Amino acid sequence: MQQAVRCGAQGAGPGGAVQGSGMKLIIAIIKPYKLDDVRDALAAVGVQGLTVSEVKGFGRQNGHTEMYRGAEYAISFVPKTKIETVVADDQVAAVVEAIEASARTGAIGDGKIFVVDAHQAIRIRTGERDEAAL
Ligand SMILES: Nc1ncnc2c1ncn2[C@@H]1O[C@H](COP(=O)(O)OP(=O)(O)OP(=O)(O)O)[C@@H](O)[C@H]1O
Ligand SMILES: [Mg+2]
Repeated sequence: MQQAVRCGAQGAGPGGAVQGSGMKLIIAIIKPYKLDDVRDALAAVGVQGLTVSEVKGFGRQNGHTEMYRGAEYAISFVPKTKIETVVADDQVAAVVEAIEASARTGAIGDGKIFVVDAHQAIRIRTGERDEAAL
């Protein structure tokens, strides 16, 4: 038997429009040495949970693109730090601004911020759902 998927506040609203869960996943790719500054800025705006990963990637400069034997290009990946935090919709603007302000140097490679719908959150210990689980 198929079990109903519990989706918190999500579901068909008036007119059949699907409403959001009220949460967003904010993913930021930053320069690794900016992590402490970004963490402090996020704590100051009330972020309570954060996941950090060491990653590598490239943006529109393709890392550093090198000429090789006059013609070939080597694409190299640049070490970056990825931050992920799920926050309530009403925190999104403050969190994005905090990351922007604390991660910016003005040089290329400062990174990107992506905001994605988060459908569900569960605190495993208590079974709390969605915003109560953040
Ligand atoms: N479109 C993308 N999708 C996923 N990850 C990306 C994307 N663009 C950049 N990144 C990640 O962000 C890191 C930093 O990107 P970066 O800041 O160099 O972007 P950019 O577009 O080249 O901007 P800038 O001109 O300021 O350097 C990359 O190394 C990569 O890990
Ligand atoms: Mg770049």
